[in-house]
Amino acid sequence: MENERENERENERENERENERENERENESKIQKNDIIIEGMDIVRTFRMGEVQVRALRGVSVNIRRGEFVAIMGPSGSGKTTLLNQLGILDTPNSGKVVIDGTDTSTLPEKEKGKFRLHNLGYVFQDYALLPELSAAENVYLSLMMQGKSKAEYESAAAEILTAVGLGDRLAQLPSKMSGGQQQRVSIARALAHSPIILFADEPCANLDSETSKEVLDLFKKFNTEYGQTIVMVTHEEWHAAYTDRVIKLKDGMLEQ
Ligand SMILES: Nc1ncnc2c1ncn2[C@@H]1O[C@H](COP(=O)(O)OP(=O)(O)OP(=O)(O)O)[C@@H](O)[C@H]1O
Ligand SMILES: [Mg+2]
Repeated sequence: MENERENERENERENERENERENERENESKIQKNDIIIEGMDIVRTFRMGEVQVRALRGVSVNIRRGEFVAIMGPSGSGKTTLLNQLGILDTPNSGKVVIDGTDTSTLPEKEKGKFRLHNLGYVFQDYALLPELSAAENVYLSLMMQGKSKAEYESAAAEILTAVGLGDRLAQLPSKMSGGQQQRVSIARALAHSPIILFADEPCANLDSETSKEVLDLFKKFNTEYGQTIVMVTHEEWHAAYTDRVIKLKDGMLEQ
């Protein structure tokens, strides 16, 4: 009982601290437009496979500006997903660091990293990663519930963002009753519902035909141009690059010059 209350108090304190950080970031972002929002410095990531060391990233440095739409491209196995996972702090590099909007994420303890992701970052995956037993709206507002928003707030936010991705009439629908393109749009709505400072997407169109891929890319472009959403997207399709501002090319775990 006492522990629970202490945990609750600790959660409240952490939420307050997160709100303060959010306010600070808002103030800073008003001052500096087009500043560096992700600073990846000399990132090394090595995987051990039994006796073999796989050097997935061999010292990669990248800067991404606020409001940029960037593609990460390169052959299969060149380290695209590994780089996205470092920049999106889903994984920890062996050395080097990633600074996001002024926060050096390498110094954050795991729990703080989780909070940072929940409040500040959004992710879209190739396989949608929706929870099958939840409706479109429930999938979208789950993270808002976890952030402690009220029912009225998260329900209206979910309806609003699902409408923005063209699914305003599908709020109660289960993912299994939707096409691949619709499921990916639900996952985009989920990633954007909490207005993340950066949207990360790993081959979001890999399972979609070219017509549906175009719809998804148009949607990314819309959020990028209309709302200044920063987007980092892995893709291996050359024609996708035309939607982006810039391409970061990888080869054998290094930037291609
Ligand atoms: N968890 C892991 N354990 C061991 N090796 C890994 C792991 N993740 C990635 N690798 C290896 O690191 C290298 C880079 O992998 P990564 O998944 O980043 O490539 P990719 O460019 O995303 O490829 P693809 O286009 O096929 O998705 C590959 O050699 C891969 O086998
Ligand atoms: Mg990959």
